[in-house]
Amino acid sequence: MEKENIYILGIESSCDDTSAAILCNNQILSNIVADQKIHAEYGGVVPELASRAHQQNIVPVVHQALEKANIKKEQLSAIAFTRGPGLMGSLLVGTSFAKSLAYGLDIPLIDVNHMQAHILAHFIDEKDHNKPPFPFLAMTISGGHTQIVKVSSYFEMDVLGETVDDAVGEAYDKSGKVLGLGYPAGPEIDRRAQLGNPKAYQFTKPKVDGLNFSFSGLKTNILYFVQREVKANPNFIEENLNDICASIQYTIIGILMAKLKLAVKQTGIKHIAIGGGVSANSGIRKALKDAEQKFGWTSYIPKFEYTTDNAAMIAIVGYLKYLEKDFSDFDVMATARLKL
Ligand code: KG4
Ligand code: ZN
Repeated sequence: MEKENIYILGIESSCDDTSAAILCNNQILSNIVADQKIHAEYGGVVPELASRAHQQNIVPVVHQALEKANIKKEQLSAIAFTRGPGLMGSLLVGTSFAKSLAYGLDIPLIDVNHMQAHILAHFIDEKDHNKPPFPFLAMTISGGHTQIVKVSSYFEMDVLGETVDDAVGEAYDKSGKVLGLGYPAGPEIDRRAQLGNPKAYQFTKPKVDGLNFSFSGLKTNILYFVQREVKANPNFIEENLNDICASIQYTIIGILMAKLKLAVKQTGIKHIAIGGGVSANSGIRKALKDAEQKFGWTSYIPKFEYTTDNAAMIAIVGYLKYLEKDFSDFDVMATARLKL
């Protein structure tokens, strides 16, 4: 007898992207993301504006996801949604929507941890993407997260280290603000970094023990450095922008790689999977490729649309939990500080 297909609707609304995806078993049929341009005017995510935009976006985004996948909502097997961590108002929109639809369709509801989803995005079936073997190390790097996790199985994850203050993407975005670049500044700093001299300027590396990270000191260091230089030469930024960007990138990638090396040393695990918006960065990609040659690591980088916040990663966790019949009660609550 042929096995019946499992269709999962995934919903993601933890920060500033409203996203819905349809998965058939472990393959993505659609992954719609409505990002919220409004925050660019403020140089960062404004929580109240984010939740209002989610409310406007959620129905059309889910509708589009179903349409693109060419399935009817009555065919859905279950609905998976981001329970946390994230912004409370934003999470509430996705949570309430998922509960109502699952209740109306009389199908299971599955709550998903956003950080687990960034990692399990590697298990979406994709051409040209190898799935990491267990155990592996996962480093999630984005505007909201910086974490190294030991992944022993789909649902056995141990956080080895995380940031004690800013996330790495925030370090990029805040440095960009000091330099007068638009938000988010990561891609522009990355582009310019490839044209500049990485050793032109030196910034202090944070002193954080073990596998934790800290990026707030670096941001202050860059701010004072730029203020001092601009005082001496008002055109300092324009004249040296590529070198400044290259030096910032060199410092940040150095910090990430030093922690990864320590994690490999402590665990003996050489399979490294990365995720989150900063995994698009050319510096980290190159450093990982070099480490494959130098230290025998194997690195895994998912397709870009599955590394930034998206619902496909929520749907794949939904599918894996569906197989385990790990369903949620309808009184499950959105949880802003949900732990892995
Ligand atoms: O995963 P994401 O889309 O959203 C969350 O923050 O969860 O990540 C966005 C972050 C921003 O901070 C952005 O500046 C950074 O990822 N980013 C990059 C690059 N592309 C995006 N940072 C460095 N280099 C890049 N190429
Ligand atoms: Zn995220």
